[in-house]
Amino acid sequence: MTTALADDQTVVQRIFDHIDNRTTDLSDETWREPVENYRSEARLAAEITQVLRRHPTPFCPSAALTEAGSWVARDAAGVPIVAVRGKDGRVRAFRNACRHRGTRLVDGAGCDKVFECRYHGWTYDLDGALRHVPHEHGFPGLDKASRGLVPVVAVETRGLVFVTQDAPAPDASLDDLPPLLTPGHRLLTTNELEVPANWKIVVEGFLEGYHIRSTHPTTFYPVQYDNLNVVERFGKHSRIAFPYQAINKLRTVPPGERVVGGKLTYVYHLFPNVVVATFPAGMVFLVVLEPVAVDRTRFVTHVLSDRPPDDGQLRQGIERSAGFVDVGAAEDRAVACGIQQGLASGANEFFEFGRFEGAIAHFHRSLHAALDAS
Ligand code: FES
Ligand SMILES: [Fe+2]
Repeated sequence: MTTALADDQTVVQRIFDHIDNRTTDLSDETWREPVENYRSEARLAAEITQVLRRHPTPFCPSAALTEAGSWVARDAAGVPIVAVRGKDGRVRAFRNACRHRGTRLVDGAGCDKVFECRYHGWTYDLDGALRHVPHEHGFPGLDKASRGLVPVVAVETRGLVFVTQDAPAPDASLDDLPPLLTPGHRLLTTNELEVPANWKIVVEGFLEGYHIRSTHPTTFYPVQYDNLNVVERFGKHSRIAFPYQAINKLRTVPPGERVVGGKLTYVYHLFPNVVVATFPAGMVFLVVLEPVAVDRTRFVTHVLSDRPPDDGQLRQGIERSAGFVDVGAAEDRAVACGIQQGLASGANEFFEFGRFEGAIAHFHRSLHAALDAS
């Protein structure tokens, strides 16, 4: 199902209506997800091989690859991948392994003219071509043209680099996506953190505002609304708007001039495992949630801003905003771990997501459909 996202003015009006009527968006139905689906190794294997590796998934922001030779390497859906901007400006991505004896070529991020394997020095151009083999006479008949780095599909759009590793799922498409990051967005930080919880539990934590008051009593609750959201679906993805109290300042602004930055957080869930969230001071968090094991998830978090780097006051705003988001995010992680621990209790055969949690139902429905279609 494809539903176009509303413009900011429409979202703000829907939020005002909810504030005035003490309501929130409601989904048509509730959803029951079997607890077994969070515990099953076979289910996780299918999610990784049939869904994560077959859907175009944000690998890094374009802003991580600013110049020719810039590269980023990390594991995506359990596979070492490197993305690199070529001399022609195009971003390509490869399986991150040497074609001699398989050494992982690079780790982290950097900028280089070529990739040189640390083991025996086989050297690859930025377009993946095998350029140099030391003492090549030791490999009689080596067909260098067929021993370049193994490519995966990389597409740069909306300020993101999307990677699809295996044959794409039939309806995997980027056409539904709204603008996300602009060329003005700079990368401030990237960090990785592992959390002992199933990746779907972690995704769910981003997708509803029903928990704001209970989970975030001193962080988000004092400045946001509890259980007051605009929830939209587009393709397999969704967007949830979390308004701040400050949104009321827009009531006296003519609708056409209302700027939502700093007045609400948009959380975009990019199916299956990526969240893009907007925050005050022009900050955007791009969070990739990588399943590491059935009970373990790696957060790869990129923090970006579209504000000029040399403005001291703005930098203070960014630091304030980042500190606030960090504490709130730690509260969400603590809850995710609590759910993971609760799985072992045997208390629940299913989790029930109510009508405030429709974006989670949409996630599970899309995931079931993608698994069934494979
Ligand atoms: S494994 Fe890379 S050069 Fe030998
Ligand atoms: Fe939260």
